[in-house]
Parts: sequence; C-alpha cells; structure tokens
Amino acid sequence: MKPAYFFFMFQNSITQLFGIQYPIIQGGMIWCSGWELASAVSNAGGLGLIGAGSMRPEVLKEHIQKCRANTSKPFGVNIPLLYPYSDEQIQMLIDEKIPVVFTSAGNPAKYTKLLKSYGIKVVHVTANLKFALKAQEAGVDAVVAEGFEAGGHNGREETTTLVLIPEIVNAVKIPVIAAGGIATGAAMMAAFALGAQGVQVGSRFVASVESSAHQSFKDAVVKAKAGDTMLRMRQLVPVRLLENPFDAAIASMEKAGASDTQLADFLGKGRARLGMFEGDMEEGELEIGQVSSLIDQIKPVSEIIEEMMNEFEVTKNRISKF
Ligand SMILES: Cc1cc2nc3c(=O)[nH]c(=O)nc-3n(C[C@H](O)[C@H](O)[C@H](O)COP(=O)(O)O)c2cc1C
Repeated sequence: MKPAYFFFMFQNSITQLFGIQYPIIQGGMIWCSGWELASAVSNAGGLGLIGAGSMRPEVLKEHIQKCRANTSKPFGVNIPLLYPYSDEQIQMLIDEKIPVVFTSAGNPAKYTKLLKSYGIKVVHVTANLKFALKAQEAGVDAVVAEGFEAGGHNGREETTTLVLIPEIVNAVKIPVIAAGGIATGAAMMAAFALGAQGVQVGSRFVASVESSAHQSFKDAVVKAKAGDTMLRMRQLVPVRLLENPFDAAIASMEKAGASDTQLADFLGKGRARLGMFEGDMEEGELEIGQVSSLIDQIKPVSEIIEEMMNEFEVTKNRISKF
C-alpha cells in the first residue's frame, strides 16, 4: 500500500516566494511545455512554466490565456534570452501581469530590473557560479542551478548537479533551485541535502500525458537506456541529445573536426520542432536529460508530483534512521 504522506504541509522560501504547495518547478521546455503542461503542474501544487522559447509573441499570448482558463493557481513563463523577439515577449508578460518569469540562456541583467519594477518575481537559470553571482547582483529572487545531466542547452563548464548546487548555495544569499537529473523524490531529497530549496524538473515532465511533446518522442524517452544521451556541439551551443540518426550525424561530423559553421549549416532551422513536436525520430533533434534512463512510464502530471512528494518523505524517514 502506498504511504499517505502526500498531503503533508510543506513550507519553505520557494513555496512562499511563488505561493505554491510543493517546491517543484516544471522547467520551461521548447516544444514540450505549453499551457496544458504548465496548468497541470500548477493545479497539482507545483509551479508550471510555459516554455516561451519556441513561441512567437502571439502564440505565447494564446498559451497564457489558455493557462489562465485552466488554473487559478500561480504559473510562470520561461524566456530563453537568445531569440530575436524577447523584447516583445517581455513587454507582453508585463501587460499580461504574469507573476513569475524565469529567464535563461543570456544576460540576467537585461530584463530583471524592468520586470521587478512591475512586481514580477524573477528567477534566472544558470549552469555556473559566475552567472549565479551576476544574477544575484541583477536582483533576481532566486537562481536555478542546472547541472550537466540536464536535458536541453547546457553549460560549457560541464559542472554536475552534485557539485554545482553547493558551489552556488555557498556563494549566494538568495534561494537556490536545483535542476539536472532530478526525476524522483530521492533525487529531490539529495538536492535539499546540498542546500537547495526547490527543484526544477524537465525530462520527467516531457514523458507526461500533458506535455506537448510528440507521442513518438515521449515513447523514445521511456525507452532510453543508460548512456543513450550525450552532450553535443560543445563549442557551438552545448546541448544534450538522445541518440538517433541526427545525433549520430552530428557526432561523426564532430569527430571529423567539422567547424562551427559546418555544424550550424547542418543543424539548419527547425530541427527541434521536427523531432520533439512533429515526431521525426530520424532527422529531428531530441533534447532530453541523462535521467531519461530512469523514466519508464508516461504518467499524468498529478501522479508524477504525488509520487515525488511521497518518495521525498519516505527517503527522509529512511535516512533519518542512519
Ligand atoms: C526538451 C527540453 C527542452 C528544454 N527547453 C528549455 C528552454 O526552452 N528553456 C530553458 O531555460 N530550459 C530548457 N530546458 C531545460 C529544463 O527547463 C530543465 O532545466 C532541465 O530539463 C532540468 O534537467 P532534467 O532534464 O534532468 O530534469 C529544456 C529541457 C528539455 C528536456
């Protein structure tokens, strides 16, 4: 029988900051985290984020409206700062009175002051200590420390989650949210043991009923085994990819010493959409974390969060007996 820990009260700096029940944040994920996933996570007591990276401003607006219609709980938006329309996206978030914005892949000083002047909570995602300090200086409310294991774009330093969390926790005064390799309550407990106050989960939510990932991509995540993901394009844009013919082609080009221009030409445009959203498992780009080897079922978001919180409590009790 399942232990009934789930409804226990949980309060810390992260649940208070966002006004949520559990310190679980669903990471913004291009092509995978639209309104359906974000609202499901928020309804289940976590913080859902609409991944705006793959959305033009008018599409983002539609997702915000649908998310609002489907949850009365707080939700946020992730804006990777590497797209040409981020100015427009940021202005729309202000107009729409979005309460929480997670920025990533860029300079945290760019929009933090502006967003904060409208009372918006700002969090920046970083894969290294230098940018965590920069984000703190820019005035963010919290930082996400995202380790090398994570799916999607990755830091050049290749610092693992286990090392990155204490590096950042020891150096900043704001709350730290751990990301990279966290898909279970036990992993969440490990992150908390290192001083994190919350977790950002990506890959586990790709393989959820509510994610907008193509069914073939979700099935591939469930089938992934140990060693099936690798960090590619370390010089151009480091990204963790699931093995497929596209990934194999990138690997052999890199082995043959291809230049950044050659890689960029081969990558072209729209590969991520093709793979993750349209389900082309041969030619498409499939971004996923190492932890995919531990994910063996597509589940509804409410079950994923319930299991994580139950396991978190079970683990806490188990280790308290040491
Ligand atoms: C398919 C996919 C797409 C992602 N896209 C983004 C993105 O658009 N912006 C961002 O900040 N992080 C992105 N990430 C990173 C996640 O938000 C999250 O930090 C990461 O997945 C956590 O590690 P995990 O995959 O081991 O759970 C993406 C991750 C995945 C798996």
